[in-house]
Amino acid sequence: MSTDTQATGRTDGVAETGANTLSVTDNRTGRTYEIDITDGTVRAMDFRQIKVDDDDFGLMTYDPAFTNTAAARSAITYIDGDAGILEYRGYPIEQLAEQSTFIEVAYLLVHGELPSQKQLDEWMHEITIHTFVHENVKDFIKGFRHDAHPMGMLLGSVGALSTFYPDANQIRDADNRHLQTIRLIAKMPTLAAFAYRHSQGMPYVYPDNDLRYPGNFLNMMYKMTELKYEPDPRLARALDILFILHADHEQNASTSAVRGVGSTQVDPYSAVAAGVAALYGPLHGGANEAVLRMLRRIETKDNIPDFMTGVKNGDERLMGFGHRVYKNYDPRAKIIKAAAEDVFEVAGRNPLIDIATEMERIALEDDYFVSRKLYPNVDFYSGLIYEALGLPVSMFPVLFAIGRTAGWIAQWLELVQDKEQKIARPRQIYTGERRRDYVPLDQRS
Ligand code: ACO
Repeated sequence: MSTDTQATGRTDGVAETGANTLSVTDNRTGRTYEIDITDGTVRAMDFRQIKVDDDDFGLMTYDPAFTNTAAARSAITYIDGDAGILEYRGYPIEQLAEQSTFIEVAYLLVHGELPSQKQLDEWMHEITIHTFVHENVKDFIKGFRHDAHPMGMLLGSVGALSTFYPDANQIRDADNRHLQTIRLIAKMPTLAAFAYRHSQGMPYVYPDNDLRYPGNFLNMMYKMTELKYEPDPRLARALDILFILHADHEQNASTSAVRGVGSTQVDPYSAVAAGVAALYGPLHGGANEAVLRMLRRIETKDNIPDFMTGVKNGDERLMGFGHRVYKNYDPRAKIIKAAAEDVFEVAGRNPLIDIATEMERIALEDDYFVSRKLYPNVDFYSGLIYEALGLPVSMFPVLFAIGRTAGWIAQWLELVQDKEQKIARPRQIYTGERRRDYVPLDQRS
């Protein structure tokens, strides 16, 4: 490090120079480099100039799981994980969950500003008239086995939409991008509901354009013989809040998958299919499913201490706890906990909430969780609401995907218009064998 610093009066023993650079001394060569710091970040490529000799490839940074690497400049979602703050386009999640609707939030994420009444009406109209899917989509969903996981069906069917809209690969055309944006947000609930009905062996229900987004989804899920399905407004509102809370979460695993695949300039349906695939995993969107399975396994409050001992011994994981970014209470978990009580008023109390609440109480007093800053995340309580809505656990990540589609597409739009982005292509540290001669099969021992 350079010692050429001029103190500026700090009393904590740290000398400030006012320079926005990092001095790096390579002790292999004794050379010192000045690396620019912008937005609290250094560019990994600036390290490539650091070489032992001319033949050296140059220094790389190693960051498995990208725990300290910013891969994008983004103006969509702000998170302060230590303070437990989440904002979409600068608006606090608490205000949006209380006062907005998912459709308006989707507009905000995609366009960057809240809509005027006219803009909102147009946006809502466009989404409403794009909720139908091609009849062939029904046919191939029918082709899945009766016990196929609905998330697998969603993954396959959203990717397949690219074959119905081959012009979606015109990603440089703004009007085209807008159309695919509308289609994705509009059709995701239809695909999700068809997947659910298929798994139940029930006929698929077409969208009802008289209903709002969450009410229409409930219609496609639950309509039976009635001529017109009338969603309970309290359940529709709870669902809308869940969609809002899941709408975006900056560069999480599934969004990074959308961006990574999208960076190849493939169509947005294929990119979003990658997001669905990532969300399927139990450490991501599958966590709410895992929480429910865990709570069922624990069964009664009496079994909680044993389970917690298993967690602390490393034999179990407390699903729905911990987060890569939040080292405080996930603000979404608080909102969901409150929404859960509203749903229970309509649908009846889910007894698992008492086990969940007790586990939270114990965990927040236990040094294992406190010292690791493990708090409930969004999925600790969301599954309880979904279950109260009558959904099987396999549908939980599907619900998550509906909300997250707004964020995926907003992030994809930002990606394809970002001049700094290229095809995503990480480096590796090669640890395998080198330069071995091929051994014919009959000579191998
Ligand atoms: N239960 C028990 N211990 C945990 C948990 C947990 N849920 N989460 C983290 N820890 C422990 C780890 O074992 C580790 O302990 P150690 O330092 O003694 O080795 C420490 O806390 C740090 O955890 P990491 O695994 O390094 O944290 P990371 O940021 O990699 O993982 C993750 C974050 C994947 C969310 C993790 O907390 C987890 O597995 N949680 C349960 C699954 C879950 O709820 N996922 C949903 C996330 S929210 C979402 O996707 C919408």
